[in-house]
Amino acid sequence: MSAPRTWLVTGSSRGLGLEIVRQLLSDASNTIIATCRNPDNASSLKSLADNAKGVLHVVRLDVSDEVSIQSSVQAVEEILGSSRGLDYLVNNAAISSGNDTAFGFSVAGFESTLKSNVIGPALLGQVLLPYLLKGDRKVIVNFSSGLGSIGLDYGGQNATYSISKTAVNMLTYKQARAQPELIAIALDPGWVKTDMGGQNAPLEPHESVSEILKLITSLSLSESGKYYRYSGEELLW
Ligand SMILES: NC(=O)c1ccc[n+]([C@@H]2O[C@H](COP(=O)([O-])OP(=O)(O)OC[C@H]3O[C@@H](n4cnc5c(N)ncnc54)[C@H](OP(=O)(O)O)[C@@H]3O)[C@@H](O)[C@H]2O)c1
Repeated sequence: MSAPRTWLVTGSSRGLGLEIVRQLLSDASNTIIATCRNPDNASSLKSLADNAKGVLHVVRLDVSDEVSIQSSVQAVEEILGSSRGLDYLVNNAAISSGNDTAFGFSVAGFESTLKSNVIGPALLGQVLLPYLLKGDRKVIVNFSSGLGSIGLDYGGQNATYSISKTAVNMLTYKQARAQPELIAIALDPGWVKTDMGGQNAPLEPHESVSEILKLITSLSLSESGKYYRYSGEELLW
């Protein structure tokens, strides 16, 4: 059996987060702290426990809410106990305020996008750092997007979402440089059929997630601070 691993995944009620938890639960070596903002409504997530080989803990966590982030630490502490650390923090949860532009956006939409997509993941990294440092793998995966790349030149669409993902890329670089013993990467999951990706997306969630899990479970320190597509290809900043 492979070494036991502990995971915290944000936004696991649906979409890619739910699929990540589903695939992780097929391996008995995984303990997953699957977080979502409303566990009472997360029936798809909770039903994953039925056929699970791994261990599932569902914890309430709203990544746009500082109090919620701070109070989730106690739940993490209770689950991990005094001896186990956290091997993987997967900052997956995010929102998009739609197809706005640099000259046509709402302040409220911009603020809430930055709060959920950048400040929440950053704060979670900060409060969970002691647990990550105690883990064997010490990995932070920050979900970015191809739209966060300036080099890929995707044009003027989806401005506030794209700006938030560019900030996630810089957050990742800063985390990697500030804590050289961690492996922090920014990850583009590809264009995937979820509520966010829409039905025209070419990838199914299981296709993107199986590649993502292969990539992140084999990461080494020399890859920290980099920006990857789900397929393992390094992306232009
Ligand atoms: N799908 C794509 O094509 C695509 C492409 C590039 C990047 N991405 C990135 O991949 C990640 C997952 O995307 P997805 O396609 O799975 O999106 P999704 O289908 O819209 O699901 C988003 C998830 O994030 C959760 N969430 C949103 N705000 C939250 C908050 N404040 N606190 C806690 N959870 C919150 C949602 O929970 P509720 O159920 O409570 O709303 C849901 O579980 C995101 O970071 C996204 O930017 C996706």
